[in-house]
Amino acid sequence: MNQPQPNHPAEMYEHYFVPAMFLPWAKILLRHAAPQSKECVLDVACGTGIVARVAAPFVGAEGQVVALDMNPAMLAVARALPAPSGAAIAWREGNAMDLPFEDGAFDLVLCQHGLPFFPDRAGAVREMRRVLAPGGRALAIVLQALERHPVFEALMVSVARHLALPVSAVMTPFSLSDAGELRALFTSAGFKTVEIRLETTTVQFPDPARFVTLAAMSSAAAVPAFGQLEAPERASLLDSVRKELESTIQQYRDGDAISFPMFAHVAVATT
Ligand SMILES: C[S@@+](CC[C@H](N)C(=O)[O-])C[C@H]1O[C@@H](n2cnc3c(N)ncnc32)[C@H](O)[C@@H]1O
Repeated sequence: MNQPQPNHPAEMYEHYFVPAMFLPWAKILLRHAAPQSKECVLDVACGTGIVARVAAPFVGAEGQVVALDMNPAMLAVARALPAPSGAAIAWREGNAMDLPFEDGAFDLVLCQHGLPFFPDRAGAVREMRRVLAPGGRALAIVLQALERHPVFEALMVSVARHLALPVSAVMTPFSLSDAGELRALFTSAGFKTVEIRLETTTVQFPDPARFVTLAAMSSAAAVPAFGQLEAPERASLLDSVRKELESTIQQYRDGDAISFPMFAHVAVATT
């Protein structure tokens, strides 16, 4: 009964967005983090667990990986996927702003594209600091400005206009794009050193029309006005957004896919 349903948003996230976008970012994050054998790693806001799965082989069977998310549907997908080599992964439901772990329990805390979603970002970074052992490190990756991502910009402007909302209401993943603001979160939490590094990767999404539909749905998902629409109104909104995006999609078309560069900041902080 607890098996995730096919076409459930968490399944779509794992099978469509993770290979195209979150796996490339996870490899970049882990390159900056360089986890060592036997380390204890926490993946905060793990979603379907791509960062935890990429981290597990680095720390090996004598290391530990704990992955936490507040969304049980994402965790159900994570648990159902084949386990990677290396450390066994413990999946935990919980809140990034109130981590259910002892002080100093981890050597490394990772957070990929999670911070912009937290209502209390400063509180979440303080929690990352609290659960780190002396000499531990925290790394968070967040997207740079929406304006640097013309495909997402066109998509979010269109979605927001159809919902009669400001773009800020649907652009949460891009809402922590200021490097100074990101740095201040970590310095204020008491980290001794904080570096903000720039990163880029080229993402490639198969089936551009599907990309527009799924990306529009996920950017509108948290907006009550979208949730309140009846199915036909919702379908018509998505249809209009797809039509409006056609020329943008053409500019970035790569065979049967759509491909474009994305830009992120990686905060690297030590206790
Ligand atoms: C864009 S997803 C990123 C997931 C994952 N890190 C990845 O790279 O695929 C953002 C995740 O943050 C989680 N999230 C949002 N607020 C949270 C909170 N307060 N505590 C824990 N998880 C949270 C969501 O459930 C979602 O899985």
